[in-house]
Amino acid sequence: MERICVIIDGNAYVSQKLTRYLSWLSVESKYFKNSGDTKATLSEIVKWFDENEGVVAILDTEEPTYDHKSILVDNGIDSFYIGDGSTVFKDHTSFIKFNENNITINQINSHLQSRISYFTLNLKPKPRTIYLSRHGESMFNVTGQLGGDSDLSPRGFAYAKKLPELIKADTDAELTVWISTLKRTSQTASYLTFQKLEWKALDELDAGQCDGLTYQQVEEQFPEDFRARDENKFEYRYRGGESYRDIIIRLEPIIMELERQENILIITHQAVLRCLYAYFMNVPQEESPWMSIPLHTLIKLEPGAFETKVTKIKANIPAVSTYKEKGTSQLGESATSTSSKSRDLINNV
Ligand code: F6P
Repeated sequence: MERICVIIDGNAYVSQKLTRYLSWLSVESKYFKNSGDTKATLSEIVKWFDENEGVVAILDTEEPTYDHKSILVDNGIDSFYIGDGSTVFKDHTSFIKFNENNITINQINSHLQSRISYFTLNLKPKPRTIYLSRHGESMFNVTGQLGGDSDLSPRGFAYAKKLPELIKADTDAELTVWISTLKRTSQTASYLTFQKLEWKALDELDAGQCDGLTYQQVEEQFPEDFRARDENKFEYRYRGGESYRDIIIRLEPIIMELERQENILIITHQAVLRCLYAYFMNVPQEESPWMSIPLHTLIKLEPGAFETKVTKIKANIPAVSTYKEKGTSQLGESATSTSSKSRDLINNV
């Protein structure tokens, strides 16, 4: 198993973003801050690798590490340096070095190292706002059907009409609007005058053979799948369709591009929005598919180095709830409800 210690030259923003990105991608990773005793910190890192089958340790440090580099080498850990080379840089052959006018990249040894480099190079530590919204209520939402490519309901169109006003009340900034290739997102964006860009990667979770069914029909026709999905919603892949893990993989280019962008509005779907939200808010994998993200609500994210500020702007236009709580049955008589609750992170802010 590959082991990399990414040594970042005292840059909390890059260190935190990289740690979040890697854990979102399910790479076993951890952030370490060097308190001053470099030898002790590196020993702590080695211990973490051994005890957790760690893959990437991110060390945020302003201290030189070269005197103690053998601690890493002797334990089969590659070091990868990122910074301007002024303090900790020496004796690290894999590095990204930023100068005022240029960037030098040396010896990228693996696919993972190249992803780390690519991500780091894309980061723009500028204050900005990211707005996220589900499409307005769709006809399939009203009938409780999954997937499909239905039109908005009349209430969904009312949300689309109100969206420009909601945004105007919050910001004068010029936004770029990203939508999926499905009608319900372009209809939701149709009253906005900003530039729009369509992404296939923002399409809703593909429910495969269950596309067009209601939860109740899924439970009747595929009872084992229905249970298996509740057991492990992140990993469960619909027959002929996708899992949440699959969505994360197809969202990686979106995240890369998002990090380069300034102010942006993304109009997408329940499952995709959960995955994007989880990236910014560091929500653990097993919890993210259970988050409640209501329709007709604009979510405003203001990312910072250590945390992202969230504001929820409600349109006050009624809509159905498309939320199915974990462990609940949809079959009338035999309906059961376990104690497991959704993690309503968004409603808690
Ligand atoms: O119900 C709306 C919807 O967007 C469906 O198209 C999709 O299958 C579902 O939400 C995803 O949510 P969950 O993973 O909770 O079933």
